[in-house]
Amino acid sequence: MRPLTKILVASIGVAFVAVHWSTVTFDPETLQGARVLVTGASTGIGEQMAYHYARFGAQLVITARREKVLQQVVEKCLSLGAQKALYIAGDMATESDPDKVVEFTLEKLGGLDYLVLNHIGPTPFSVWKGDIEHTRWLMKVNFFSYVQMAWKALPSLEQSKGSLVIVSSFVGKVAGPLTAPYTATKSALNGFFGSLQHELAMKNSNVSLSICTLGLIDTETAMEKIKGIVNNVPAAPASEAALNIIKTGATRQAELYYPYNTYIITLIKDWNPAVTNYLIRRTYNYNP
Ligand SMILES: NC(=O)c1ccc[n+]([C@@H]2O[C@H](COP(=O)([O-])OP(=O)(O)OC[C@H]3O[C@@H](n4cnc5c(N)ncnc54)[C@H](OP(=O)(O)O)[C@@H]3O)[C@@H](O)[C@H]2O)c1
Repeated sequence: MRPLTKILVASIGVAFVAVHWSTVTFDPETLQGARVLVTGASTGIGEQMAYHYARFGAQLVITARREKVLQQVVEKCLSLGAQKALYIAGDMATESDPDKVVEFTLEKLGGLDYLVLNHIGPTPFSVWKGDIEHTRWLMKVNFFSYVQMAWKALPSLEQSKGSLVIVSSFVGKVAGPLTAPYTATKSALNGFFGSLQHELAMKNSNVSLSICTLGLIDTETAMEKIKGIVNNVPAAPASEAALNIIKTGATRQAELYYPYNTYIITLIKDWNPAVTNYLIRRTYNYNP
């Protein structure tokens, strides 16, 4: 075996061990009564996270724009065992709603142990044709509101030795086609919160910060978007993705890669960008 291949194989082995190890020590009891805010929880991965937290007996606030759907999710959370489940409707594209949602949570739960930032605004899955307004809007929803909510919640998380959990994407690490504005927002999240991770560690903050890198997950929105365009990429189950995010936050891990192959592709991308780019483009059924 050539030295570079040896290094690659060894890295993959270490990656597997590291990623598996990160979930080993999860104790569900730690979430009993935990005060949790989950954004983008009316559907998809956020909704699944709400149900898991509910089963663990957490006190929950969920948010998204659609009030009626949030109401149904809250009812299900209560039936699953949540100690408390409340919702507040909010549009993360506005200046005031990110603060309003955190304030509501702090008031209703008397503090915060987990802030899970997960929402994303709808965006086309298509070639970028110069829509600057949409890109600006998406940055507000997917990036600026995360920064605003994190800042608002940090004092409370500091007090409770809490956790900030950022749901990001594989495309924030390795860019793919047809999602330029979305990719930009996820890269911005990785950059901003990667920097904040250093700062929290350097000042011995009580707050843990987890950045979660997800590959393709079988939510309705994602499946609808990629239909007929992305080939041969298996989608991982949303409920399992949600559980892995929760475990990552609860065990105060800095990173999650789910499914695990996202970590391997991220490693290979730096080792051999040309091959990775070729393989990525091959999965797209796109003829200009
Ligand atoms: N699914 C995947 O394949 C995949 C892959 C990688 C990363 N991820 C990441 O995983 C997270 C969840 O993805 P998902 O597939 O579960 O998304 P999703 O099903 O599209 O859900 C998005 C959530 O965000 C809310 N939302 C949309 N616009 C909003 C706004 N302006 N203000 C407030 N809330 C808003 C939606 O509810 P309302 O419409 O009611 O507002 C919904 O609850 C995202 O951060 C995404 O980037 C997903």
